Amino acid sequence: MQIAGFGVEEWLNVWEKKATYDIAQSTIASMTMQEILDLDGQNGQTFYDLLNKQKMNYGWIEGSPEFKQEVAKLYDHVSPDNVLQTNGATGANHLALYALVQPGDHVISEYPSYQQLYDIPKSLGAEVDYWHIHEEADWYPDIAELKQLIRPDTKLICLNNANNPTGTILNRDFLEQVVEIAKSVGAYVLVDEVYLPLDDPSKFVSIVDLYDKGIATNSLSKTYSVPGIRVGWTATNHELADLFRKYRDYTMICCGVFNDMLATYILKNRDKILARNRQLVLTNLKIYKQWIDSEPRASVIMPQAVSTSFPKLDVPVDIEQFCIRLLKEQGVLLVPGNRFDMPGHVRLGYCAPEETLREGLKRLSLFLRQYD
Ligand SMILES: Cc1ncc(COP(=O)(O)O)c(C=O)c1O
Repeated sequence: MQIAGFGVEEWLNVWEKKATYDIAQSTIASMTMQEILDLDGQNGQTFYDLLNKQKMNYGWIEGSPEFKQEVAKLYDHVSPDNVLQTNGATGANHLALYALVQPGDHVISEYPSYQQLYDIPKSLGAEVDYWHIHEEADWYPDIAELKQLIRPDTKLICLNNANNPTGTILNRDFLEQVVEIAKSVGAYVLVDEVYLPLDDPSKFVSIVDLYDKGIATNSLSKTYSVPGIRVGWTATNHELADLFRKYRDYTMICCGVFNDMLATYILKNRDKILARNRQLVLTNLKIYKQWIDSEPRASVIMPQAVSTSFPKLDVPVDIEQFCIRLLKEQGVLLVPGNRFDMPGHVRLGYCAPEETLREGLKRLSLFLRQYD
């Protein structure tokens, strides 16, 4: 099995720990353990009392009943039985693709988006067609193009809603059109849903609530600010959950007793985390917008209160070399757009802590002045 290198991950693995002003990430400023434990107002006492009694065995293989119930509450039509805990959304995407895609299958993937969604199917022997996003259409892909790509034997359509790197949310009307096209040939639709719009979560609709053959993958890594616990999930219909179970046993067994407990605690305190993050996202969006308006060498389709964005930078040099020099000379980290096959752009994670964002943008502007 051959697979392409994962562009963003390879970049971050080399550079992220060298950054002083990391404005490359797509997580909303990660929480410390203390911040997490403070959420229930008991300084973590109840959590630790419970944890101390736990045997460190395998725990609940698919995720505890409490975890599954909390996840099911995020959807209108998902039974807790059909939620499977995974090792992050990465594990969820991998599980779904591993279970569904066979050599020779036809897969259509939104492009660019999260690289797993096209390079894993390719590595499994599928024929993958790219469904391109277009900057001039607010980074939406075009339904007419999907109609051209779809085939009677299309097995799966893969989307990332909201999109990494652009932060674009696909609205209900658009998703309903995708579902109609998928239905016409019986294709599954897998949507990686790790980014929730923080200004108004009701703008977002999950694919499992729209389509029986929809597969939602998600995790606590982005919207919930705790990538460190590596907990995600798949949410599907009953038949797909059973299929995924079979494959899951071969790759992970469980996420661990501690991780399951913390994940459940986080989901139970979801409203407080969303309130914290809403404030952070909306404040940082204003700072970001002011910067864009005053920086002649940057332009962007504003992300929809989702924690990633993909501005265009007007620089007359190779974008990766630009980002390496920016890091070495100013301590500021971005992800160069060539890592998404779009070299005119950079991924800018404006949901870093506020001071990091302010200083990072100031230094980025200073650095850009050399090209004036
Ligand atoms: C769209 C998307 N899916 C999944 C992931 C990885 O999520 P996790 O940390 O839950 O594995 C990322 C991380 O950047 C992402 O952008």
